[in-house]
Amino acid sequence: MRKNIVAGNWKMNLGYEEGVSLFSEIVNMVKDEVIGNQEVVVCSPFIHLSSIAKLGASAANVHIGAQNIHQAESGAYTGEVSASQVKSVGAQYVILGHSERRAYFGETDAILAEKLNAALKHGLKPIFCIGETKEERESGRFFEVIKTQLEAGVFHLDQNDFASVVLAYEPVWAIGTGLTASPEQAQEVHAFIRETIAKQYGAEAAESTTILYGGSANPSNASTLFAQKDIDGGLIGGASLKSRDFLEIVKVFN
Ligand code: PGA
Repeated sequence: MRKNIVAGNWKMNLGYEEGVSLFSEIVNMVKDEVIGNQEVVVCSPFIHLSSIAKLGASAANVHIGAQNIHQAESGAYTGEVSASQVKSVGAQYVILGHSERRAYFGETDAILAEKLNAALKHGLKPIFCIGETKEERESGRFFEVIKTQLEAGVFHLDQNDFASVVLAYEPVWAIGTGLTASPEQAQEVHAFIRETIAKQYGAEAAESTTILYGGSANPSNASTLFAQKDIDGGLIGGASLKSRDFLEIVKVFN
């Protein structure tokens, strides 16, 4: 059975002390709420990772992730952080291909394919984001866009490596905008993603892949979104910065 995951993406928010205290609150609140097949992941800025990994070590099913890595092993890449460095502080996950990285930092499908390889080589589980812009949604090209992102960024992986990948469908027009995809719109794309995986890796792999929804998910809409057959949890931005809201979203799976 595939996992249900609620992952927080703090983006470039919170000073060191604020982040550590938010994480402590989250661990205390959610540790008894994360049950069965569910995992909670907090993807913080690099500065918090080492400290929160230590705090999280006591809570089973609460994991830590980064929001980016560089694709190279090591070397003269001023300001960058590698997969092995992220792994060395005790993180288990990394978000890759977030639309903000694609749009503001020029991350192409080809670069993302390399980042994916680097993450997997060092035992980090990627949360790989795909999704269409507003124009691509309105022109009706969104299925094609999503298929290309999968083919060019992910489908070079062999079956075994693909099994470690979590996907996140994040329509760009819904991120941080307060506009959420309707449960029907999201389900339609999630089902399409699962079919596309089935064609590449087979029905069993498609059934086992966790596919998250992201884009203005909050305590009021999470339950109808997560009730959809092919939506296995969420990648949560704004609402992951408030421990109560994040807890409410985690509790949807109880
Ligand atoms: P949001 O962000 O929940 O604030 O829309 C989601 C994301 O960017 O991962």
